[in-house]
Amino acid sequence: MGKLDGRVSMVTGAGSGIGRAIALLFASEGSKVVVTDVNDKGGEETANMIRGNGGDALFVHADVSRASDCENAIREAVKRYGQLDILVNNAGIDLPRASLRLIFLRMSSIRSLA
Ligand SMILES: NC(=O)c1ccc[n+]([C@@H]2O[C@H](COP(=O)([O-])OP(=O)(O)OC[C@H]3O[C@@H](n4cnc5c(N)ncnc54)[C@H](O)[C@@H]3O)[C@@H](O)[C@H]2O)c1
Repeated sequence: MGKLDGRVSMVTGAGSGIGRAIALLFASEGSKVVVTDVNDKGGEETANMIRGNGGDALFVHADVSRASDCENAIREAVKRYGQLDILVNNAGIDLPRASLRLIFLRMSSIRSLA
């Protein structure tokens, strides 16, 4: 018996990396998994990996920066599984250190103007 039997999870950015690992782990614990990503190839791959292991998964294309994509993913999840219990908001990008430093410098200059 899995820790997530009977649950439905959605993992954003599950087409690779940490999101994929979470999706596979949740599926191995009995959850049905809605895999979402902007990368259709990676997302379908993750869903196929889950199905190949005997799990249940649905891939839905969704860019988390677009509200309409997010609404559609939730609609599709509920249409397929009738519920949505867990959301892992994993999708994101890693800013290079230089960009973070630039943001810090900009914020500092805004503060010093105040
Ligand atoms: N890997 C690390 O060491 C590390 C450390 C700290 C935080 N994080 C964060 O963890 C998350 C996952 O990291 P990862 O290393 O697995 O990255 P990754 O690049 O391997 O995977 C990110 C996934 O998110 C998807 N994605 C990107 N933008 C998206 C969007 N707008 N909408 C939907 N999907 C989108 C990509 O297509 C990709 O499949 C990121 O938010 C990252 O910033 C990672």
